[in-house]
Amino acid sequence: MLEHLDRLAPDPILGLMAAFRADSDPRKVDLGVGVYRDERGETPVMQAVRDAERAVLERQTTKTYVAPAGNAGFNEAMRRLALGDGSPLARSERVCAVQAPGGCGALRLGAELIRVARPEAVVHVSNPTWANHVPLLSGCGLKLERYPYFDAVSGGVAFEAMLSALEALPPRSVVLLHASCHNPTGADLEEAQWRTLGAVLERRGLLPFIDMAYQGLGRGLAEDAYGLRLLAEQLPEALIAVSCSKNFGLYRERVGCLLVVGQSGAAAEATLSQLVRIARGLYSMPPDHGAAIVAEILSEEPLRAAWQRELAAMRARIVQLRTATAAALAAACPRKDFSHLVRQRGMFSYLGLDKDTVRRLREAHHLYMTDDSRINIAGLRPENIPYFAQAIAQALGQ
Ligand code: LMR
Repeated sequence: MLEHLDRLAPDPILGLMAAFRADSDPRKVDLGVGVYRDERGETPVMQAVRDAERAVLERQTTKTYVAPAGNAGFNEAMRRLALGDGSPLARSERVCAVQAPGGCGALRLGAELIRVARPEAVVHVSNPTWANHVPLLSGCGLKLERYPYFDAVSGGVAFEAMLSALEALPPRSVVLLHASCHNPTGADLEEAQWRTLGAVLERRGLLPFIDMAYQGLGRGLAEDAYGLRLLAEQLPEALIAVSCSKNFGLYRERVGCLLVVGQSGAAAEATLSQLVRIARGLYSMPPDHGAAIVAEILSEEPLRAAWQRELAAMRARIVQLRTATAAALAAACPRKDFSHLVRQRGMFSYLGLDKDTVRRLREAHHLYMTDDSRINIAGLRPENIPYFAQAIAQALGQ
């Protein structure tokens, strides 16, 4: 039965991780997978996570099942973190929350929910979008289309083109949006653009499905959720997939949450019952450990304050790296403009290089980035930025 299966190429991002590990050159730089790295090039366990983990383990008396909807304290904390502590919506019966195995699990749960509610619904994703959005959202049978998003000339959002495409969509289409730190471009909507977008979604009867994987790594916890909160408050319905991989550094623990805003308390209750059924059929119950850590951090004020300080330091480091990298590239490659690096947010930016140049950089200079020239800025360090900039200059013949 399995003999006719084709051997598939590795995942474009995860395959790069493996290639990087196999490279023994000491000059190698990992700009591929989107994990935060500190000044030593490591992805450390955050101190707040270590402290919370200790408290969780000391108190834990059983490993019995939690529930298909996951840890109730975690779900409650995620409502407040995403929607805002003081927000009436965070406490509203119109919202339901389900813990999920990572942001990916939350995206898939949301897609499955849409398929149950409206099997013919089309999900519109930005062009470009995170490569894994495609299998996660279309794997359950939903059709995917793309709307224009990135303006390669300015390095910003092609907002007019995006709006005209959304204006033309049939009502009840689903629009996948990145809350902040757009992956892969780093180009985010400004606050005024979110407001304009909200009016279009409302007028056209479109359903926002918002992916928030980098809250706190762009401009701040509240700032990065600005558009999400606006749409969730303004529109009758919204789906929100939250990941704790990056902002809590809990990648391998698989911690995420799907929040759904419904038109009424009854709609949210029905939605929750559907989500629980979907989760049960997919993986039964989410893993507990990471969610228990996040719930502990967000419910204990000293831990929460410590986590926010660590997150602020990570954010500041990314901004500093963006500035230093743009300056080094400007000096090494005077004929190419890299100033978009300082205007963009979060860990990712495109370098605007073609596939052959990206391959040459990998083979000759041991710089690992995805074929579309997306780099994870956090993979750089002040010590290797000059090497990186010189390699790009050589590859561009500058
Ligand atoms: C990335 O975009 O590199 C991260 O979100 C990690 C992943 O799973 O792809």
